[in-house]
Amino acid sequence: MTQILKISSVNPEKTLIKKAARAIKQGELVAFPTETVYGLGADAFNTKAIKKIFKVKGRPQDNPLIVHISSENQLKPLVKEIPEKAKILIDKFWPGPLTLVFKKSKKVSKKVTAGLETVAIRMPSHKVAKSLIEKSGPIAAPSANISGRPSGTHSSHVHSDLNGKIPYIIDSGHSQTGIESTVLDLTTSPATLLRPGKITREQIETLIGRISTIQDAKKPRSPGMKYKHYSPSIPVILSKNPEQALKKYKNKKVGTIAFSKTSANKSIVIKNTKELAKRIFDLFRKLENKVEIIIVERVPEKELGAAIMNRLKKAAHKG
Ligand code: TXA
Ligand code: MG
Repeated sequence: MTQILKISSVNPEKTLIKKAARAIKQGELVAFPTETVYGLGADAFNTKAIKKIFKVKGRPQDNPLIVHISSENQLKPLVKEIPEKAKILIDKFWPGPLTLVFKKSKKVSKKVTAGLETVAIRMPSHKVAKSLIEKSGPIAAPSANISGRPSGTHSSHVHSDLNGKIPYIIDSGHSQTGIESTVLDLTTSPATLLRPGKITREQIETLIGRISTIQDAKKPRSPGMKYKHYSPSIPVILSKNPEQALKKYKNKKVGTIAFSKTSANKSIVIKNTKELAKRIFDLFRKLENKVEIIIVERVPEKELGAAIMNRLKKAAHKG
């Protein structure tokens, strides 16, 4: 029932893009690749289609969606104002893995923003996402996974979560970054980092000065933050020393994801944080079928490491 459209990320086939864009315009859901993770897309102006996203994912009703655009012209009608700081960040980081939260215009339905007066907007750099949005117009999309599961970073992940529930999945191979975009709220002063990502706090602060993080704030302002997230179906344990941690689980089948080889049943060795970010959700999904517990080596919480640890702590129900 779900059709896979294989589209090149280097040279997206026009006829296939047209087919996917037509489906979006007709109110259907299409899973599509971005450079961070795969998205589950619907026409951002079609409330019926937006409702389908929540249903298909099992997404809590109070968790808003990101609107994806392909050009700066599409931004203006969606927002009340474009603050100076936004212009600076857009100039530097769009298209790319940075989502900015603005005050929303009337044109944006509260179905998209889950009742909020603000809207999150992102311009992906992935060629397939860009070509698709150029043809269909703005696309509202969360990550293309069942709510609470690891985000889909390959079409096969999307297929295993959503097969039979949506008409099309675009397959353009593995996502480059592997973790979701940085989310920065520009409606507060100073701006608030709601979700760390590949665009780091340090990079943002160099351009617009000090920002606060959600840890500094008293209550969660990004509704998505309060839910279970990124979790495989088996426990995830974080450790500075995976080989040491293994000793506690002698009678279990364990998988380790670490910077060096361990004596675990499945020992996955990664080279650096970039590779860890790219592979983490894929490894969660592979290991959950082979072992009973996953031990992941902690990384220093700076730059990309901050984004990775944010996901890992949530997956381990520790954050
Ligand atoms: O990389 C990404 O951002 C991927 C790709 C598909 O673009 N999308 C993604 O969407 O990760 P999702 O829905 O899984 O996560 C969006 C996050 C949620 O934590 C949500 O609460 C937050 O953004 N968010 C969306 N709109 C918001 C708003 N108006 N104010 C505060 N947070 C918002
Ligand atoms: Mg998500």
